[in-house]
Amino acid sequence: MTDPRELLARYLQQRAAMGESPLILDATPVKEAPGPAPASPDEHGPAQPSTDQHRGAQTSRDKPAQRSAPLARVRPRSPASKPDWRRGAPPIPATGIVVPAAEKDLFSTDPLSSMQLEEVAAAIRQCAKCVLCRERANAVPGEGPADARLVVVGEGPGATEDETGRPFVGRAGQLLTEILAAIELPRERVFICNVVKCRPPDNRKPQQDEIDTCVPYLYRQLDLIRPKVILAMGNTAAETLLNTRQSLGSLRGRVHQFRGVPLIVTYHPAALLRNPHWKKPTWDDVRIARQLVDA
Ligand code: URA
Ligand code: URA
Repeated sequence: MTDPRELLARYLQQRAAMGESPLILDATPVKEAPGPAPASPDEHGPAQPSTDQHRGAQTSRDKPAQRSAPLARVRPRSPASKPDWRRGAPPIPATGIVVPAAEKDLFSTDPLSSMQLEEVAAAIRQCAKCVLCRERANAVPGEGPADARLVVVGEGPGATEDETGRPFVGRAGQLLTEILAAIELPRERVFICNVVKCRPPDNRKPQQDEIDTCVPYLYRQLDLIRPKVILAMGNTAAETLLNTRQSLGSLRGRVHQFRGVPLIVTYHPAALLRNPHWKKPTWDDVRIARQLVDA
């Protein structure tokens, strides 16, 4: 699955499944009517980091050469080169639930409160605070850059995650990877983790006491990363982070705040695999999250 054509084909299929018009799915350049190119600021182009938070080997500094190419060689942008996720993206909705920051306890004796991200991961790998540690092959602390602008929170590891120690690498994970690519946030730039860090046997839902025991790790991760947006995927992540029992459907379409960080709720990718009707609403939700990442 590394053949770029195969990847593109899958990506386009995915988009079609999301209800995008097949016209814009055609990657071949389309002849454009004369006139100004469609509004598509360069800074939103796929390879064009929009803020200085995209550090790393290739940055915008590699780009200006292209921009200053002789006019004669500048071709009109084809629709396929536009950041499609912006087309028809919903407006930013109103504020929802506000979860205030925890009060800082200067005298805390909890070792977690002074750990950095790698230390949190190490603590998770050694954790034996609940029964889930008994049957795990690997704990799954989460992965991604410490300064990620987006954090995705799922429920808990499944079989593939347990085997590999990595989050969202099974079927649902592949779908998540595709969704992130479609909003031009490659998964390598996103911190991806779960509410519980060890796989519940037979993929049952984590129990409340397991969640309560494990969630301080997630809170610490979020406090350290302080992303621009949190994307809570599925009931468990939404209920846990927002401390609510409201249905996922009613939590969608609002910008919640978790300790000062905007939080968007959407369906879990595993649910999308079972129920394709939720793909379109999910696509709307992630595009709201994406806009907030840039905000
Ligand atoms: N929308 C797309 O176009 N692609 C995806 O993978 C997800 C949503
Ligand atoms: N489902 C989740 O909630 N998390 C994973 O890491 C994988 C599947």
